[in-house]
Amino acid sequence: MTLADIRYLPESPAHDAAIEALNAEAFGPGRFTRAAYRIREGGPHERALSFVATRHGAVVASIRLTRIAAGDGRGLLLGPLTVGPAFKNIGIGRKLMAIAMEAAARAGAGVVVLVGDAPYYGPLGFSKIPEGQLAMPRPVDPERLLAAEIVPGALSRMQGMVTHADAARDNRDFLRPGVRPTLADVA
Ligand SMILES: CC(C)(COP(=O)(O)OP(=O)(O)OC[C@H]1O[C@@H](n2cnc3c(N)ncnc32)[C@H](O)[C@@H]1OP(=O)(O)O)[C@@H](O)C(=O)NCCC(=O)NCCS
Repeated sequence: MTLADIRYLPESPAHDAAIEALNAEAFGPGRFTRAAYRIREGGPHERALSFVATRHGAVVASIRLTRIAAGDGRGLLLGPLTVGPAFKNIGIGRKLMAIAMEAAARAGAGVVVLVGDAPYYGPLGFSKIPEGQLAMPRPVDPERLLAAEIVPGALSRMQGMVTHADAARDNRDFLRPGVRPTLADVA
C-alpha cells in the first residue's frame, strides 16, 4: 500500500455511511458508550473542519472535529480519527491530523482536545490536560485526556464538565464562518 493513490478531501454528507462503517469496524459497539461519543451526541460535528482520505473514491480514513464548551472556555473535540486496517502506518493518520489542526487554527479555535494515546498524539503537539481541570460525561483515563493549544491561554479557560458547545448554557458562536477549505487547500 502506498500513499500515491490517497486523496485528502473535505468531508461531505456523501461520506457519512462509509465513515460510520469505518468507525464501527475500528471501535465496535463499545464506541457508543465512550465519553467522546457522549459529547458528540449533543450536537453536530463541524463538517467544514472534518476530512476524509479516499482511495479510488472509497473512504479509507476519517477525522472529525466537534465544537465543545467547558465553563467559559470553547474549543474543538478531535475524533474519531480512524484509519482503515489496510491503510494503517503509512502516514494517513498524521496527515489527517495536520490537515484538521490547520483547519482548526484557520477557523479561530483556541484549543483542540481529544481522548487518545499520548504516545501517538504527543509528537503531534498534544499533551496531558492537568488532572481535575476537565470532567467528561463518562470516566476517562486522565493519561488519555489530551490537548493542543492553538491560542495561548485557551486551555486554561476550559474548566469543569465538557459538553457539546450547543448544549452550553451560554451557547455562542466562536468559530470564524466561511472557513470551509477548498480541495486545493488539502491536496
Ligand atoms: C491510531 C491510528 C489513527 C493511527 O493512524 P495511522 O495512519 O495508522 O498512523 P500513522 O501512519 O499516521 O503513524 C504511524 C506511527 O504511529 C504509531 N502508532 C500508531 N498507533 C499508535 C498508538 N495507538 N500509540 C502509539 N503509536 C501509535 C505507529 O507505530 C507508527 O510509528 P512509526 O512512524 O514510528 O513507525 C490508526 O491506527 C487507527 O485508526 N486505529 C484504530 C482507531 C483508533 O485507535 N483511533 C485513535 C483513537 S485515539
